[in-house]
Amino acid sequence: MRIDILTLFTDMCDTVMSESIIGRARKNGKVEINCIDIRDYSYDKHRHVDDKPYGGGMGMVMAPQPIFDCYNDLCNKIGKKPHLIYLTPQGKTLTQERVKELARLDNIALLCGHYEGIDERVIEELEPEEISIGDYVLTGGELPALIVADAVSRMLPGVLSDDECFTEESHYNSLLEYPQYTHPASWNGRDVPEVLLSGHHANVDKWRRERSLERTFYRRPDMLKNAELTREDKKFLENLKSAE
Ligand code: ADE
Repeated sequence: MRIDILTLFTDMCDTVMSESIIGRARKNGKVEINCIDIRDYSYDKHRHVDDKPYGGGMGMVMAPQPIFDCYNDLCNKIGKKPHLIYLTPQGKTLTQERVKELARLDNIALLCGHYEGIDERVIEELEPEEISIGDYVLTGGELPALIVADAVSRMLPGVLSDDECFTEESHYNSLLEYPQYTHPASWNGRDVPEVLLSGHHANVDKWRRERSLERTFYRRPDMLKNAELTREDKKFLENLKSAE
């Protein structure tokens, strides 16, 4: 997969995407991530990309032309139209389900707004998918774009090693993950649950499944309606309900 980040802050994006698991995946060719400077598509002498809003008001608005030219140049360079996503608090909130779908595409382009946002006409022209990462407002779309790029990249084949596998983790199967422990077995007067030291795999699996169900039941009951539950799972949840 190829991900292009259209931004005014290429260094910030490239630095974050060069660390840790995503940095390794880029080096190994598992994902291609490019950061493109929207300012390179400003043709005015001071390389301006923003201007005062019509109608008055606070702040600056990103002009339509540099964004439009930046995306079109990308399309021409790669010979196709990447699925365009505009990061905005007005978008649909990102979910793991949507992340999984995006990871099936060959190309996505992430458009980062700044200041008071971008001129509405370029949104009408390019019709991007609009994604929010949550009900709060950041100073720009870069951090949200990096979140999307990270969440999508880690779902691609070969990006995570076996011991970083995502199939057991929170949200993957609409359940929260069970608690994790490592050495030492006793720390600060707190012991690792006995069953995890037992080496009995079936008991460990059962214990983890129950903790996972329990956490989801108490913390995120809304997720349970999408989870695939066995007869035993349902019985376990019934017991939790009647104990309330
Ligand atoms: N830009 C500013 N805040 C944002 C948010 N919560 N999600 C996506 N883009 C944003």
